[in-house]
Formats: sequence, structure tokens, C-alpha cells
Amino acid sequence: MKFDVVKKSSNTSARLGRLETCHNSFSTPIFMPVGTQATVKTMTPDELEEIGAKIILGNTYHLYLRPGHELIREAGGLHKFMNWNGSILTDSGGFQVFSLGELREIKEEGVTFRSHIDGSLHFIGPETSMEIQNALGSDIMMAFDECIPYPATYEYVLRSVERTTRWAERCKKAHKNTETQTLFGIVQGGVYKELRKKSAQDITSLDFEGYAIGGLSVGEPKKMMYEMLDFTVPLLPDERPRYLMGVGTPQDLFEGVIRGIDMFDCVLPTRIARHGTVFTKKGKLVVRNAAYARDFGPLDPTCDCYVCRNFSRAYIRHLISANEILGLRLTTYHNLYFLINLMQKIQKAIEGDYLLELKDEFFADFGIPNI
Ligand code: GUN
Ligand code: ZN
Repeated sequence: MKFDVVKKSSNTSARLGRLETCHNSFSTPIFMPVGTQATVKTMTPDELEEIGAKIILGNTYHLYLRPGHELIREAGGLHKFMNWNGSILTDSGGFQVFSLGELREIKEEGVTFRSHIDGSLHFIGPETSMEIQNALGSDIMMAFDECIPYPATYEYVLRSVERTTRWAERCKKAHKNTETQTLFGIVQGGVYKELRKKSAQDITSLDFEGYAIGGLSVGEPKKMMYEMLDFTVPLLPDERPRYLMGVGTPQDLFEGVIRGIDMFDCVLPTRIARHGTVFTKKGKLVVRNAAYARDFGPLDPTCDCYVCRNFSRAYIRHLISANEILGLRLTTYHNLYFLINLMQKIQKAIEGDYLLELKDEFFADFGIPNI
């Protein structure tokens, strides 16, 4: 992997970057659609390419359980298995296993958990996470970490941060395909500045090719998340990519970018799409609502995606009411297009150094109070 900072914003910490993997190269800041189970739900790889997606996310936890990483290895890796020729980043399982609640037990060695599919007992630790991600063949792999819930006590977070560092060291040792697969470290620390600082120092001292900030957008107030970013991002090396995990409302994308984040992922656009909610320039719109039964205009009159050029709100609402699969395909397509297009506008605004003007205009239109 290669990463270059191409241009820095003069009045924010934003940067325009260029990231190159074995599969493609793309500009940052970038939004990565989530493809948990070797598919971005409802989207074909051709459609992903058409809307300008360059890198998608896959999940170690899900693919290990089903269909199994050995099967994907046999298929020639995840890219070949799902016929996606762009880049893939895989999360380590360090988030999904911790979301299982009652179903898991954390030890120094790793995490024992019960499958959400059939209740069977499994174990993932740093070495197994690396083995699985090596078998999947993703371009960017994530270290195995503990994503700390909010709220958590200082004592708990301290012990967890220390363990996540020990796990990160073990990940570096266990990672086999260093030629073709890049490994990112993850900074944790909850909402304690002191522990964010400790985690950033410990993780960066291990010298990863990129750094993620984890454990945010887990229920803490927005203001607190932005404060943690203000504090944590400057502790990361300037010349390496920075990835804010699991974050992706339009507001958070702007707030992350101006604080120096280069990569984002979130299930939000695809998940709300399947519930009949779409992004528009004027904010979110629940197209499933009866109010749109006779609205023959597009989802977003300012959007030039395939869906907005060809279908009406009334038609899409009808499809969703009738439980027709196409309804979910169209809302998903539009929402992903909206966010990918927004990131392209953000890239141009960094290039032309008018990012804050773009943010003010977007927030005003979308109905986000500018704090
Ligand atoms: N996805 C969202 N947050 C996190 C995190 O803290 N760790 C990992 N591994 N994945 C995440
Ligand atoms: Zn559209």
C-alpha cells in the first residue's frame, strides 16, 4: 500500500490524499460501503463501480462463521469469490464479537463466543483474526481490538487499552502476507483523553501502515466524539492514513474530515435505505410514508444518479409498500451514491480550499445546526 497527502486545507485539519492498494488507487477522504457478508446488500459489483465505490468493507467475524474463510481461500480469496475488483478492507472481528453481549467471554488469549447463527462455540484471538484475514486476502486488514462500550469505567478502559496493545503486537507478528496485505492498528481509550493518548502512543510505537480510531459513535454524545477526535488525531503520524471506524452520518463525515480523518465506513446509508429512508440535499426523507404516494418527482431533485434520473418517489414508495425487492435496491443505490458523491465534493473542496464554505452550505440545506 502507498499513501500520499496531496494537499492540506489551509483553515482546517482536512487533507486530500491518494491511497494505492494492489487492486486500485483512489483519493481520500473516502466513504467505504459496508459489505458484511461478501456483498454490499442489494448491490452488484457493477453497480458499486458505477456509483464510484473504490473500496468496500468486509467482516472477519461473519465470513469466518459463514461460509468459512477456508472456503473463501479455496475460491481464490474474497475479491474473486464476490467478483469485486476494487479494494477491500476487512474488520478484525474485534467489534462484532464484542457486540454479542452475553454470548462472549474475553480473556488475554482472545474471545470465546457463541455464533449468532446456530449458537455453536468459537474462538477468535489476534492470531486467528490474522489467519482469517490472510485467507480472505483483503487489501487492508485491521488489528484485533476490543471496542469499549460507552459508558465504561476508567479502570476497565485502562486494562482494555493495555490488552488491545498486546493484541496489536501479536497481530503484527502473526500477519503473513505483508507483501500484498496492509495491516492497520486501532487506537482505543473510550472517552478518557489520558487513555486515548496512551493508546495512540502505544499503538503508533508499533509502526502500522495506517491507524484507525475505534470505540467512537458507540452511544456517547456527539460533542464528546468530536472532542476525542480533536484530541486524538494530532497524536497520529501525518503521513499515514487515518480511519474513523463505524462513522458515517453526513454531519459526522464533515466533522471527521475537518479534523483530519481520511477513511470512513458505516452501515447507515444501506440500513436506512432498507427501511425506506433516503438522503436528499434537504435532509433525510422517509419515502415509505403515505405523503409520497402521489409524488411523481425524484427522490432528490438535485441528484443525478440512475435512480433519480428514472424513477419517482411514488413508484419507489409503491415498491416498498408492496414488499418488492427493487424498492430496496433503488433506495440503497441512491443513498450510497449520495454519500460517495458527497465525499467527491469534499475532495474537490479541499483541493480548492473552500471546505468550510461547502460545509456551511451543506449543513444549512440538510438542516444540521452548525455548532
Ligand atoms: N467498528 C466500529 N468501531 C470499531 C472498533 O472500535 N473496532 C473495530 N474493530 N471495529 C469497529
Ligand atoms: Zn439519486
